[in-house]
Amino acid sequence: MKISKRLSICLKYTEGFNKLADIGTDHALLPINAVTLGYVSSAQAIDNKQGPFVIAYSNVLKYELNNKIEVVLGDGINKIDSDVDCVVISGMGGSLVSDIILKDDKQNIKRFILQPNNDSNLVRKALSDIGFHIADELVFSDNNKIYDLIVADSGFKQYNDLEIEFGPINLKEKPHFFIQRIEKETAKLKKVLPHITTESRKTEIISRLKLLEEVIR
Ligand SMILES: C[S@@+](CC[C@H](N)C(=O)[O-])C[C@H]1O[C@@H](n2cnc3c(N)ncnc32)[C@H](O)[C@@H]1O
Repeated sequence: MKISKRLSICLKYTEGFNKLADIGTDHALLPINAVTLGYVSSAQAIDNKQGPFVIAYSNVLKYELNNKIEVVLGDGINKIDSDVDCVVISGMGGSLVSDIILKDDKQNIKRFILQPNNDSNLVRKALSDIGFHIADELVFSDNNKIYDLIVADSGFKQYNDLEIEFGPINLKEKPHFFIQRIEKETAKLKKVLPHITTESRKTEIISRLKLLEEVIR
C-alpha cells in the first residue's frame, strides 16, 4: 500500500521496535506498512473518531492483518497496551501532539516519532517535561509543504530555550528546509515592519529578526 513521503519518513523510525501504536491513525496506512515490512511485530491503530476508526478497521481487514493490528477507538495514548514500545503521532498540530503526550501514562514507551504540522517548539517542550530526549530531527518537504519530524527516546536531557524553540539538532546541522523556513519568516517580518505603528510590537519584531539572523549565521 503506497504512502506519502511524509508518512514513509515517520515509518522508517519504527524499524526494530516490538509493538507500535499509531495515534490518530486515520486510514491505518502507517501501521499496515510497519507490520507488512516487518519493522514491528504488531501494532495498535488508534483514532478517537468513528469515521477514521471504520476506515482503519476496513483497511486492516483488507490486508488480512487483523491478527497483528488491533484497531482501537480511543483518545491519545490512553488505550495503548503495556507492551507498546514505540508511538507515532503524525499529521496534527503541535499543540494537540503535545497535549496527547503530556496527558496519559507513558507506560513502557521507549520512542516517540512525532510529526507536528506546526508549533514544533510546543512538542519539544512537552518531550522535555515527560523525560524524553531528542534522538533525531528532520525538516523536510513533501507536496510543497515543510514539515518537522522529531524522534525522541526515553531519558531526560536538559535543553536551553533556543534548543526548545528551534530544535537542538536543527541548530547544529542547519538543514536546507530549516534555513528556508527561517528566511521566509525573516522576509515576512521585514515586509510588515515599516507598517507597524505600536512601539512594543516594533521592538518585538526587531528582536525576533535578530534572533533569526543569529540562528542561521
Ligand atoms: C489529519 S489526520 C492524520 C492522519 C495520519 N496520522 C497522517 O499523518 O496522515 C488526524 C487524525 O487524528 C485523529 N485524532 C485527533 N485527535 C486525536 C486524539 N486525541 N486521539 C486519537 N486520535 C485523534 C483524527 O480523528 C484524525 O483521524
